Amino acid sequence: MSTKEKLIGHVMKEEPVGSRCKVTVVGVGMVGMATAVSILLKDLCDELALVDVMEDKLKGEAMDLQHGSLFLKTHKIVADKDYSVTANSKVVVVTAGARQQEGESRLNLVQRNVNIFKFIIPNIVKYSPNCILMVVSNPVDILTYVAWKLSGFPRHRVIGSGTNLDSARFRHIMGEKLHLHPSSCHGWIIGEHGDSSVPVWSGVNVAGVSLQGLNPKMGAEGDPENWKAVHKMVVDGAYEVIKLKGYTSWAIGMSVADLVESIMKNLHKVHPVSTLVQGMHGVKDEVFLSIPCILGNSGLTDVIHMTLKPEGAHPVKSTPLNSPVVPNMTPDTI
Ligand SMILES: NC(=O)c1ccc[n+]([C@@H]2O[C@H](COP(=O)([O-])OP(=O)(O)OC[C@H]3O[C@@H](n4cnc5c(N)ncnc54)[C@H](O)[C@@H]3O)[C@@H](O)[C@H]2O)c1
Repeated sequence: MSTKEKLIGHVMKEEPVGSRCKVTVVGVGMVGMATAVSILLKDLCDELALVDVMEDKLKGEAMDLQHGSLFLKTHKIVADKDYSVTANSKVVVVTAGARQQEGESRLNLVQRNVNIFKFIIPNIVKYSPNCILMVVSNPVDILTYVAWKLSGFPRHRVIGSGTNLDSARFRHIMGEKLHLHPSSCHGWIIGEHGDSSVPVWSGVNVAGVSLQGLNPKMGAEGDPENWKAVHKMVVDGAYEVIKLKGYTSWAIGMSVADLVESIMKNLHKVHPVSTLVQGMHGVKDEVFLSIPCILGNSGLTDVIHMTLKPEGAHPVKSTPLNSPVVPNMTPDTI
């Protein structure tokens, strides 16, 4: 009899019940690991699976996390380049792929990351056909569309992290300006995650008090307080962090964990995330962009109809699927 057999008396005859709330993170780079750690520290799952193509790095990251098990409440952390390790995930977060170099636009990454998605998405679908796909890799709006097409999933189960991070950056800078905690500063960045994102100035408020009501020029040219610069800082923020440290990781990791929390805990919270916006706000094409969406256990179940005014905001700009940065991208050619 082994020490284990002498110590533990087994009483159950059936097979133990497997994971009930499993999350997978694909890609254990800077963003993937910041996401994984944020998910672990928020106790969002009972099993975390990691996948990457770089086997040594994957094994090292998994071991490093497992060594912290004493301080976590996630029973199982597994990792493999074989997707069977992801089986029966509730949420799969995709962070794999090329990232921006200094000064490089997110849109420049599209073809490299589409090719990577052609391998990743079918494997995720094979092992977790009922999961909710959360796309983080850039350009996130286009890649969420690509993941939707490749997966064959209904639209409510394919979500892009979208402008959740842009909005967090906006609320942080607004908080700095007003000396308030970001959670008390309300403002929504919608549209494309990145250079053409749209700040909804009419909705910016603290405790329900519209800032545009106090400063009618808010966000417009000639505003003596130059609030437009806050949005510019949001757009330039990622470029600046990349210039300084080479990549962005912590804020995106925390913001993705916040989205995963709303799904795993069925919070019905409203987040600015990327979804199919065809037919909304005058968008005719089949494109994914961020608008406020309700996230819960079934995925992205509802959208909020924002009251948008043409003044003070640029029109929601999308990258046409036949633009030079998205060569010949139709559902048939992805
Ligand atoms: N949506 C956002 O707000 C946001 C913010 C920051 C970064 N990103 C994007 O996230 C992505 C990852 O950024 P990063 O800094 O972690 O990059 P990184 O280079 O540190 O990591 C990328 C990882 O993907 C892995 N990978 C490559 N091909 C793979 C495949 N076929 N299967 C599995 N894994 C694969 C690599 O081995 C690497 O470990 C980039 O596209 C970046 O632009 C998005």
